[in-house]
Amino acid sequence: MDKKIAFIPGDGVGPEIIKQVVKVLEAVSKKYKIHFEYEELLIGGIAIDQTGEPLPKKTIEICKESDAVLLGAVGGWKWDNLPGDLRPEAGLLSIRKELGVFANLRPAILFPQLKSASFLREDILEGGIDVMIVRELIGGIYFGEKKRENIENGHKAWDTMVYSTYEIERIVRKAYEIARKRDNRLTLVDKANVLESSRLWREVTAKISQEYGGVRTSYMYVDNAAMQLIRNPKQFDVIVTGNMFGDILSDEASMLTGSLGMLPSASLGEDGPGIYEPIHGSAPDIAGQDKANPIGTIMSIAMMLRYSFDMADAAIDVEDAVSKVLDKGYRTLDIMQNGMTLVGTEKMGDVIADAIN
Ligand code: IPM
Ligand code: MG
Repeated sequence: MDKKIAFIPGDGVGPEIIKQVVKVLEAVSKKYKIHFEYEELLIGGIAIDQTGEPLPKKTIEICKESDAVLLGAVGGWKWDNLPGDLRPEAGLLSIRKELGVFANLRPAILFPQLKSASFLREDILEGGIDVMIVRELIGGIYFGEKKRENIENGHKAWDTMVYSTYEIERIVRKAYEIARKRDNRLTLVDKANVLESSRLWREVTAKISQEYGGVRTSYMYVDNAAMQLIRNPKQFDVIVTGNMFGDILSDEASMLTGSLGMLPSASLGEDGPGIYEPIHGSAPDIAGQDKANPIGTIMSIAMMLRYSFDMADAAIDVEDAVSKVLDKGYRTLDIMQNGMTLVGTEKMGDVIADAIN
């Protein structure tokens, strides 16, 4: 078997974490007799520097021909003052749109070894944390009409939160399918007490819920959900929500697990290649210093093996390898605890790859 993976390291810590993934994939390749072919592509700030645009055409073309896309991170101070459509982030949003990956799966799972790295009290963590946030990724306020006008005394600017029935249906269905394979509970998070688009989400979800009788559906306003995630995270199994709410809640959920650096994500469409990326950003403050935690990216590889390559056994191997390495006491700076062994990005990649062999 042969799989072609588009590698897009991007900016900041992106390149150094993507490098660790190659080690892990080579270990998987050996064990499962599968050949991975990599093609490295440009996105974000580095793409702006080299080609003048955040998402070069070549990157789009090669991604579309690939079996999966692995992304590092984009953005950095250097490009912060560029106009919105030329910022590195615009490249990330465009590749998501180009590949039609409307469903962004962001699991927040607490490794028992990292309990004390969590920001929550031990009694709240009792029994573990396992929440799956399913975030709509190519619609809503990120992609609605934006505008700026000159008015007396300054400017007026707006962004539009817009969703159609069809866009809601496909993401809600995806979330129900996922809930069915988990604990059969789904919470729609919205702001239906204020926003018309949220009221449409509720109507559509209520209708679809009838097709999924085995799944218990609940509805929650986003402000309450932000609070409940901290107060009692175990009440959640699958959360389905729009683009911006999902962006915010997934960062919050990561803190339940200790570090943003631990969490992977998968972005999937109807068909075609998925995009796999850690949920953390480019962390320019620690870039190039061998400090970044590569586990979020390595866990993204597990998601890639599972969702794009149908290799559940290999996915479990990767997840187990991470767990074993944590058992042995290896920690990057972000999850360092007393008595553990502090390692850098490279070493963490090495020990995880070794644990697969
Ligand atoms: C994320 C990031 C991006 C987003 C940014 C970098 C555009 O925060 O993947 O969560 O908002 O989607
Ligand atoms: Mg985010």
